[in-house]
Amino acid sequence: MSVESYYTSLETRLGNALFFGGRSHLPYYPSLSPNAGLREYIKLLSPFPIYPALLAMENHLLASLKIQGQGQGREVLDAGCGTGDMAIYFSKRGLKVHAIDLLPDKVTISRKNVEMELGRVYKTGNHGAVKSLESLSIQEGDYHDLSPIFPENKFDAVYTIEALAHATDLPAVLGEFYRVLKPGGRIALYEYDHWMSSTSTEDEMSKVHQYGGIDPTATGTSATTTGGREKDGRGLAAIVRDTGFTDVHEEDLSENVRPLLRFLVVCLFVPYMIVRVLGLEARFINTVAVVVNYRRGWKYVGVTGRKA
Ligand SMILES: C[S@@+](CC[C@H](N)C(=O)[O-])C[C@H]1O[C@@H](n2cnc3c(N)ncnc32)[C@H](O)[C@@H]1O
Repeated sequence: MSVESYYTSLETRLGNALFFGGRSHLPYYPSLSPNAGLREYIKLLSPFPIYPALLAMENHLLASLKIQGQGQGREVLDAGCGTGDMAIYFSKRGLKVHAIDLLPDKVTISRKNVEMELGRVYKTGNHGAVKSLESLSIQEGDYHDLSPIFPENKFDAVYTIEALAHATDLPAVLGEFYRVLKPGGRIALYEYDHWMSSTSTEDEMSKVHQYGGIDPTATGTSATTTGGREKDGRGLAAIVRDTGFTDVHEEDLSENVRPLLRFLVVCLFVPYMIVRVLGLEARFINTVAVVVNYRRGWKYVGVTGRKA
């Protein structure tokens, strides 16, 4: 299944609308303090309310870019912007955001969202936010080759959030991010670490790849002895380092995203079993992915780095 079929499927659209209000990245929940009491544990059993936790994830990513307070109008690339909500959020905080997405449909939705937000902000009389939003650009683009749209040394920062799973050639994508960054510019990649070794069987993950718009033979993987392909197991941060980035740091955010994932697994386990028995994976691949992914050795990371 192509990236386009995956994102236009009813299940994907419904899931994103229901849980993420259009955004499609995981929410962030604070870590438990070392002397947490029972109350704190119980609180983390519920992922609700989700919206503040989505913003907490975005604030976390923004802080990791370390560009706030360096003056307004810093140029930032959002690669794989989806509905553009995060680009809008960052733009309102004074960054000059350039957002791209592979799918024309997502670009149209993002532009509409910017228009709607502009309408709202006009009414508040916040001229700074209006100016910033007016400078927000959203266009079609493929992160594998940014040369048709962006020159080298353009950006102060580049970020992705849950967009790199679709990369067919991760080193090429990272090479492009390196090229468009100014010297000293920073990246932040918030992703499931699809590039670390995993305990899942080929069979379990193969349906997720097949129907989730993920290329199992993507570069950044290596051949198995049986002739199939598997991840070379070193993980995203190692590939970022290989690309030439310095100060590469990986933050393991798995515990911070677990509350929603655990809740979804509990809700979706029975539907998942039914989907498997009836062979309906193509229609309900997110249901399958949530459960299968949770059972394998997954990790959710924020990887940051700097162009030398
Ligand atoms: C899971 S969504 C995340 C969207 C957004 N970052 C967010 O957090 O809401 C992944 C997005 O990456 C986009 N994408 C996939 N492959 C891409 C590519 N080669 N270049 C640019 N965007 C791509 C998809 O179209 C989709 O909108």
